[in-house]
Amino acid sequence: MASHSTTPGAAADVFRVRGGTPLRGTVSLAGAKNSALKLMAASLLTDEPVELEQIPAIADVPVMAELLAGLGVEVALDSDGGTCRLRAADPHFHAPAAAVRRIRASISCLGPLVGRVRRARLALPGGDQIGARGIELHLQGLTAMGASIIDHGDELEIIATDLHGAIITLDFPSVGATENLLMAAVLADGTTVIDNAAREPEIQDLCRMLVAMGANIQGIGAPTLEIEGVERLTGVRWETCPDRIEAGTYAMAAALTGGDVVIERVRAQDLTMPLIKLRAAGVMVEEGGSSLRVKAAGLDAVDVVTLPYPGFPTDLQPQMMVLLTQAVGTSRCTENVFESRFSFVDQLRRMGADVQIDGHHAMIRGPVPLHGATLAGLDVRAGAAGAMAGLVADGETIIEDIHHIDRGYADFVPRLQALGADIERVRADA
Ligand code: UD1
Repeated sequence: MASHSTTPGAAADVFRVRGGTPLRGTVSLAGAKNSALKLMAASLLTDEPVELEQIPAIADVPVMAELLAGLGVEVALDSDGGTCRLRAADPHFHAPAAAVRRIRASISCLGPLVGRVRRARLALPGGDQIGARGIELHLQGLTAMGASIIDHGDELEIIATDLHGAIITLDFPSVGATENLLMAAVLADGTTVIDNAAREPEIQDLCRMLVAMGANIQGIGAPTLEIEGVERLTGVRWETCPDRIEAGTYAMAAALTGGDVVIERVRAQDLTMPLIKLRAAGVMVEEGGSSLRVKAAGLDAVDVVTLPYPGFPTDLQPQMMVLLTQAVGTSRCTENVFESRFSFVDQLRRMGADVQIDGHHAMIRGPVPLHGATLAGLDVRAGAAGAMAGLVADGETIIEDIHHIDRGYADFVPRLQALGADIERVRADA
């Protein structure tokens, strides 16, 4: 069974991939990374126990646990069962800088701390370097709700003695800003309206858990959320929603290799746009209750545009681009969410891919045979995409800096091995 602990010295490991084997078999999804981390942060909103299930065995989870423990939350992470028990009896406001800087999701503690403690102090968060990733939308919203912001240079402090409802229209449907404002609003005085809110399935998961804790939220899944603040929230037991990005990654890996894979514990309704694009590319996708069967023999070019949900997810763009290197014709891929997300294209080109970049558009001509290479410095999704490229490349591909992949994919190597992939995790010097 998976362990939540990271292997000592894991940063020095690499993935060695040999291409040529179509993936076949069944893979069951873990809980969503981008939900689990926020559900953990939401435990700050109550003094009662919160029990979370289907917490994925990814490296960001123990970092989030460490961060919450540093805020005074009792955290018990069951390394075998994917369960996390948390109790924030009396949290304090100052988050430990070391853990904050290691994960982007640490910013998700801001809203709950402001809601519950009316004060938060934290360093600017870390995470993938895939763009500017500002937090001004989070801060503008909190300011509208009565918070004052003090800039300490390397840390920000937010004080909201009088936290009240407000009408907030986001410039952009930011996932993180929507979540933070939501988590502050559930305990604020009065009604908050968040317009142009993000609608990602992970935000819906968070909203539903908050409602189960006693929050009053209208418009879940819609672009306008209306939140009536309540005095207090109760404890809850909650199962994290399945990881749609992991689902999309395995679906694309199956199609790319000309394989036949069944994905279990999936919610096809969260994957509408990726499945439209896979079908348009000639992939057979069969939906059956909570499973998907993905099968392909030959791929056609297709255009993809990343947008906030329900648009095509930016977190599946690198994987889709790898798939399109093997499609017949010219595909166009437009990235609208993160400006630096094409940085992995250089590495893909080194494997032989024909990809031309023009601003935030990429033209991919295929099919082009890929050859093995050593790939380094990729973020979590580009890292997975690099491994996928290795699955169809001639010869051996080495993926370095795999701690990024460990941040977002539970048991990536054993699960691909179970599907027949020739991939292993080895010491860099092996
Ligand atoms: C979350 C996900 C990430 C996903 C992204 C978009 C987590 C931990 N991460 O990231 O996997 O790729 O949603 O689906 O859940 N922006 C600003 N100012 C702000 C807020 C955002 O400029 O105040 C910009 C960002 O720089 C980025 C874009 O808006 O270009 C999207 O950011 P956002 O939706 O907030 O993504 P994250 O919450 O960081």
